[in-house]
Amino acid sequence: MPYLRCPLFFYTHCYMLSTAALGPIGVFDSGYGGLTILQEMQTLLPDYNFMYLGDNARAPYGTRSFDVVYEFTRQAVLYLFEQGCPLVILACNTASAKALRTIQQIDLPQLGADRRVLGVIRPTVEVLDQLSTSKHIGVLGTAGTISSQSYPIEINKLFAHLHVTTEACPMWVPLVENNEFRSDGADYFIQQHLQSILTKDPQIDALLLACTHYPLLMDKIKANLSPSIQVISQGAYVAASLKDYLARHPAMDQQLLRQGTCTFKTTESPAKFSEAAALFLLQAVEAERVFLG
Ligand code: DGL
Repeated sequence: MPYLRCPLFFYTHCYMLSTAALGPIGVFDSGYGGLTILQEMQTLLPDYNFMYLGDNARAPYGTRSFDVVYEFTRQAVLYLFEQGCPLVILACNTASAKALRTIQQIDLPQLGADRRVLGVIRPTVEVLDQLSTSKHIGVLGTAGTISSQSYPIEINKLFAHLHVTTEACPMWVPLVENNEFRSDGADYFIQQHLQSILTKDPQIDALLLACTHYPLLMDKIKANLSPSIQVISQGAYVAASLKDYLARHPAMDQQLLRQGTCTFKTTESPAKFSEAAALFLLQAVEAERVFLG
């Protein structure tokens, strides 16, 4: 079990949270990337309330160790539970790869049986087979997601016949977090990794953006690829999977507030978050600063 961790500090921090009244769906990412998932969830589930938390002060997570990503993610989940979210979506592949399983198996039983935390990897993997004709899939992600091997493991559990090639793109998240994703300089780093993965497997016809920040680079990625290669962004699949989950879990669905609102929390400066988030969401956003830990 490569991504089940149980550091000592867990035992000093676990406690039962009180049973949730009605609350929003919590959406967590290390930074701005999860906004690409939030947007799709709001489109598909417009009546639901959401609470978005970006740990911008500590992003990126992609180069951090298992234990650190687990601890930061656990703090974020606890915060969202304390804010009344009965359900939290880890809208971050790195956190889903490195922390989700431990949180589900070790933390959740201590925190209240009626709370749930879901990730983005499984809903994405489930649709991959139908998106490739050559059955050669490329997966682009952070160093953490790629080194965890989560995607090849999960893909081959469901679709043993798929050939999976991976590539870590460590500069892509900083380009987004620093609002450089439209700059000419971004092209260099984008070309570098696209060429590298297609050299490893020239038969790839579907490239998965396995990082929630990467859809912000979509125009530049497509401009540097043959149109015969499909670029897959995971937001719509995660949103569809959430809708399906809520239909299959009415007890959870009944705990969720439906006034169509969204609140934004960040561990960085609210002004910086509001400015950047407005660029991604194309609407004004007001954020509140929070402290995790
Ligand atoms: N959006 C996160 C992901 O999907 C980025 C991780 C990071 O902060 O490096 O992996």
